[in-house]
Amino acid sequence: MITFRAPGRVNLIGEHTDYNAGFVMPAAINLSAYTTITPRDDRQLIIRSDNFEDEIEVDLDDATNLAARNHWSDYPIGVAVTLIRAGYQLRGAHLEIKSEVPMGSGLSSSAAVEVSVACALAANSDLTIDRKELALLCQKAENEFVGARVGIMDQFVALFGEERRALMLDCRSLEYKLLPVPESVRLVVCNTMVNHALASSAYNERRAQCEAGVKHFAKHLPHVKALRDVTLQDLETYGRGLPEVIYCRCRHVISENARVLAAAEALERHDLQRFGQLMAESHVSLRDDYEVSARELDVMVELATGVAGVYGSRMTGGGFGGCTINLVDSEHVENFQRTVAEGYEQATKLKPEIYVCEASKGAEQTDI
Ligand code: GLA
Repeated sequence: MITFRAPGRVNLIGEHTDYNAGFVMPAAINLSAYTTITPRDDRQLIIRSDNFEDEIEVDLDDATNLAARNHWSDYPIGVAVTLIRAGYQLRGAHLEIKSEVPMGSGLSSSAAVEVSVACALAANSDLTIDRKELALLCQKAENEFVGARVGIMDQFVALFGEERRALMLDCRSLEYKLLPVPESVRLVVCNTMVNHALASSAYNERRAQCEAGVKHFAKHLPHVKALRDVTLQDLETYGRGLPEVIYCRCRHVISENARVLAAAEALERHDLQRFGQLMAESHVSLRDDYEVSARELDVMVELATGVAGVYGSRMTGGGFGGCTINLVDSEHVENFQRTVAEGYEQATKLKPEIYVCEASKGAEQTDI
């Protein structure tokens, strides 16, 4: 019996850029999913989760005929099916999954489960799969089996995160750089405790709008394969013919890519003021141009912005609810928590959850 841990993540900056072949800067956090795996002599996968009641049984010889059914087990089954389809021979096993990553809050609980399951299945079957490939296979499971067209950010950082480091990833080449998160700050995550139902359909709709943008720019600029290849200057020159809403979606992605590059430079110089300014600009762009914020997220960001010791605050993850990320001087964290929690409760009548996170290490075998 062995256990694998894979972390959730918080994205510091670079939102809705991963599926545009752009740049992101997440950090793995100290909230994880755990999969404990015990070999079986037969061809069954028995999957249980502490977070849910039912137990799922999958016949490995029949697994590729399965389809998602909008159930928690879609994630582990999707990973198993994707590994089999990629040509890996899996052995029977009993899987026990538990997770401390809050679900549906934009902290990537699904990637944490996928990655911990993938590591466990690989180890149980004596397979050596390199980490980049594992990330891509987990993303594929979510894209093709579960049906959410997510980018590579979450799975990648769940595997490649490091302690006290943010990970700046080029989502086209999958090259990455680990950047120091100064000891003097904490990554404080505020959960609005709302999750608007439209999140996944709106996500797929944003992707389609970006694709429409790419088609338009490629007519003028043949080298354009993704919004990553379009500059702000190109947007000015060729973007005017676009419908307003597509123009705004493109402007978010293009400006956000530029912000990630500037934020990486700022972090390398330990310039937290500048980093925080870029976070604020990112939030405004997500709210107004990409339209993936929510009133509760805006309230949370506004409350945080005035508080002593806060360098920056923005929504994090896909949006429409979920969490904000706040870069807070460690000496001011207690006051921050109190002030924001009180203000938020007054404004919305909702009790937020606040997690003071550390940038943490990616997936690994662990004792439980
Ligand atoms: C979700 C997806 C990621 C990414 C973010 C938005 O978390 O899983 O791939 O697209 O939304 O930045």
